[in-house]
Amino acid sequence: MNYTKGMLSPDSLKDKIIIVTGGGSGLGKSMTQYFLELGAKVAIVSRNEEKLDAAAKELREKTRGEVLTYACDVRDYEKIVEMRDAVVSHFGKVDVLLNNAAGNFISPTERLSANAFDSIIDIVLKGTKNCTLALGKYWIEAQLPATVLNIVTTYSWTGSAYVVPSAMAKAGVLAMTRSLAVEWAKYNIRFNAIAPGPFPTQGAWDRLLPGDLKDKFNLAKKVPLNRVGEHQELANLAAYLISDYSAYINGEVITIDGGEWLKGAGEFNMLEQVPSKMWDMLETMIKAKKNN
Ligand code: HXC
Ligand code: NAP
Repeated sequence: MNYTKGMLSPDSLKDKIIIVTGGGSGLGKSMTQYFLELGAKVAIVSRNEEKLDAAAKELREKTRGEVLTYACDVRDYEKIVEMRDAVVSHFGKVDVLLNNAAGNFISPTERLSANAFDSIIDIVLKGTKNCTLALGKYWIEAQLPATVLNIVTTYSWTGSAYVVPSAMAKAGVLAMTRSLAVEWAKYNIRFNAIAPGPFPTQGAWDRLLPGDLKDKFNLAKKVPLNRVGEHQELANLAAYLISDYSAYINGEVITIDGGEWLKGAGEFNMLEQVPSKMWDMLETMIKAKKNN
């Protein structure tokens, strides 16, 4: 057993048609690769056509799978409808939407222009809404069962300083996940979310840990398991959640962060730093207070 290996049997996603937003880089590309290995056909969607083409070439060579590219901005609803229709016309249908595209950067909130704030909210919240609404209308009209998987973060519920537009938008995506899991269950459309902890990607690391912040803040040290995530671990979870094996999981958010957010949350978790030798002394001191 090895967490860097694929988890599901090779035909687990056979003939599933999947749209992955932001599928040309980072985690979106890694998840796409695994979906292809499991027999799916995937449309990768993002703004940069060259990046998409290069990713598609690499993915085809690695997996022999079928990859369609479509360049568009998730912020533009009309373009998303065109993208949906193009994917349906190419593959015949769509079974799964993976809302993975995101924008983010660190900044003190008071330094942000209104446009900077909107850029993040529009990519993450409005973009996810655009893709979900466009696909939802199609699935309901065509009476097709479907699955939506949204990539959020653990600060969707804790909030986070210095990435406030992202935290607000991801919180909204989580609210949408839980709301539509109930409302569209009658149409046989499932919704789930994954909240990853730190998984190294160029897109996230360059914007969240620029320059020597990478060395100054070693994210692995924030994780009780003392390491960052492997892309395959996330891909395994995502493949399971979009597969028929997870048919009874609906409206759930699954955290995959090695315990990172809980370490930050627990009131006395800092006592990890107390060396074991010191516990005898502390116990004696506490017991001595018994009769005070
Ligand atoms: C302050 C900034 C800024 C910065 C851009 N802006 N970067 N303001 N600090 N570092 C401002 C610009 O000046 C402009 O405002 C406005 O934001 C829009 O900038 P554009 O460059 O025109 O926007 P656009 O081309 O749409 O690019 C969007 C982007 C960019 C979000 C700014 O970074 C991008 O394309 N990102 C996509 C990939 C990404 O972010 N991946 C990381 C996901 S990681 P003005 O007022 O000047 O017009 C993630 C991880 C979460 O989500 C958790 C990790 C543990
Ligand atoms: P990434 O490589 O930068 O991925 C972001 C993707 O979104 C890119 O492929 C980008 O492609 C696309 N995109 C951005 N704006 C877009 C727009 N307006 N329209 C269409 N596509 C757009 O970063 P990543 O780390 O893999 O992040 C993937 C997801 O995981 C995100 O939802 C992120 O919030 C989440 N996440 C990551 C981590 C982590 O540690 N890496 C942790 C928690 C959550 P184009 O530039 O071609 O448009």
